[in-house]
Amino acid sequence: MSEFTDRVEKKLISYLPKADNEDIEKLVSSMEYSLTAGGKRVRPMLTVEFAKICGGSEEAAMPFACALEMIHTYSLIHDDLPCMDNDDLRRGKPTNHKVYGEATALLAGNALLTHAFEVLVSKEAVRLNGYEKCVKAVGVLSECAGVNGMLGGQMIDLESEGKKTDAEHLRIMDNKKTGALMTAAAKLGCISAGAADEQLSAACEYASNIGLAFQIIDDMLDVTSTTETLGKPVGSDNENEKSTYVALLGLDECRRLSEELTYRAVSSLDIFNEDAGKLKDFAFYLLKREK
Ligand code: IPE
Ligand code: IPE
Ligand code: MG
Ligand code: MG
Ligand code: MG
Repeated sequence: MSEFTDRVEKKLISYLPKADNEDIEKLVSSMEYSLTAGGKRVRPMLTVEFAKICGGSEEAAMPFACALEMIHTYSLIHDDLPCMDNDDLRRGKPTNHKVYGEATALLAGNALLTHAFEVLVSKEAVRLNGYEKCVKAVGVLSECAGVNGMLGGQMIDLESEGKKTDAEHLRIMDNKKTGALMTAAAKLGCISAGAADEQLSAACEYASNIGLAFQIIDDMLDVTSTTETLGKPVGSDNENEKSTYVALLGLDECRRLSEELTYRAVSSLDIFNEDAGKLKDFAFYLLKREK
């Protein structure tokens, strides 16, 4: 696992754009700051593992995995801004806007979003995957990160602050704000490998279930963990009057629900036989995670 995260980090650094001017160097350094601040690299792991069990390779899937991690990192930089969740700590370090200022943090997020698409159609990505798969990857990533995907989920999250919600509303919100990028991760791996339709739909089923479980656990950790362990401020959701499963159902029911979703995710991988062992273990690792 840590060897994999090291390989992802090296690749992410190698894909960073080169600034051609001193002022722009500050922008690239703020992108690099958040990109290399740690992070579990859950989404790259999913992309690469799905590529592998569908007959592809880590090498070919890596540009897709890194493009997605750039978009995920941008979503976190913006999520932490004072106008959104207003958090000061991320991945155990001061948030981007605390170090570089709000305006640069805004640009760093935009730059990571834009650059992700440059990576998807880079010479390396095209050499390893061919044009057709790269174009498909652009379609999937823009859709999942966009208005009816992650961004829409973030909008629902903001609109739900301080309001009474029900479980169906939360399911829609979390499927979008978190599930959409998990689904993107699985789909990108499948695309790189040229997976069959049946493999793709099993991968999506797995990803959407662990995506929802992931956000429920994230909301639980916001209540049960410590800032030191989590690397981000606990109690943030309560402070922002966020609508979460924890607030609606309580911790015990959240634990039960996240287990149920994890088992559902795992059983959707049965079509892959023993090849899916690592992804099944990964689902349980995510269920038991402490950060
Ligand atoms: C945090 O994602 C945001 C959510 C979707 C809950 P991660 O928990 O994957 O964050 P990093 O990348 O490990 O920092
Ligand atoms: C964020 O959800 C999901 C994103 C799309 C970034 P949270 O706001 O709960 O994520 P954390 O807890 O700040 O990582
Ligand atoms: Mg948020
Ligand atoms: Mg947040
Ligand atoms: Mg959270």
